[in-house]
Amino acid sequence: MAVSLKGRSLVSLKDFSTEEVLQILETANTLKLERLRGQPHPVLAGKTLAMIFQKPSLRTRVSFESGMTQLGGHAIYLAPTDISIGKRETTEDIALVLSRYCDIIMARTFGHDIVVDLAKYATVPVINGLSDEEHPCQVLADLQTVKEKKGTLAGLKFVYVGDGNNMTHSLMYGCARVGMHMTAVTPPGYKPLDRVTAEAAAIGKENGCTIDATTDIAKGVAGADVVYTDVWASMGQETEAAERAKQFKAYRIDEKLMAHADSTATVLHCLPAHYDEEISYDVTRSPQSAIFDQAENRLHAQKALMVLLAGGR
Ligand code: CP
Ligand code: NVA
Repeated sequence: MAVSLKGRSLVSLKDFSTEEVLQILETANTLKLERLRGQPHPVLAGKTLAMIFQKPSLRTRVSFESGMTQLGGHAIYLAPTDISIGKRETTEDIALVLSRYCDIIMARTFGHDIVVDLAKYATVPVINGLSDEEHPCQVLADLQTVKEKKGTLAGLKFVYVGDGNNMTHSLMYGCARVGMHMTAVTPPGYKPLDRVTAEAAAIGKENGCTIDATTDIAKGVAGADVVYTDVWASMGQETEAAERAKQFKAYRIDEKLMAHADSTATVLHCLPAHYDEEISYDVTRSPQSAIFDQAENRLHAQKALMVLLAGGR
């Protein structure tokens, strides 16, 4: 019998079991096929999603909003200046008030603690749409994309090259849950949080895979089935961009680096991309790149998540 995710929040993929992650991916695939067939699925008719943004977004905002429309519901965009979390009002009061109007809350924040608090106080499901520490929705779409390209997840070798940031953390948890080996290759001083690496490695061990971090590019990338990167300076780190560009120079995904990976390796990037910084434009347009399928899958994966959390299926 399928597991029920009704009423749950998604703050981090570490909180979801392997079975729950696989169920979201399976539902995402079903919803994607239904959409391809032109079959409407208004299973969240009458439901409202509140979307809180402290940072900019293209994919997250539009995929959640279109996704809710396709599910027969409605989404409300709350811009950074609309509610000014913690300044105009406390996180607790925002969570309690929105829970009286809406059926799901999605939030993109700076502090990870803000999403944690929203989930703690809200009486409806809360979805982390990116915090300084994690980006779990992106990873659901990433796993869906890898499954589509490779036909499987468990046992593959997934390599992340770049900054040990929010993407790295969520990828570590996501890979650990589905039994995919993952190595994060970062410059010294930019590795993922030790706490996250240790927690993800422990989850991975239960699922027969290794999760680790290194600074050795060639060793990390050797034999990779999937090669992934993200920007060197995340939202909120703009003042560090010039220094980071110097430190990360060797950690760029280009033809030279791809020579160390498997020749059939899939290239992923969560986007937005800074071409000729963390990735070359040519690699993103090569047959190995799946970055736009990956962006599309944000739509399907998040629709699945909303349907399961709101109990629409
Ligand atoms: N990948 C991603 O989350 O994109 P946006 O920042 O545009 O939402
Ligand atoms: N690490 C990036 C991800 C963007 C989707 C950031 O936080 O800006």
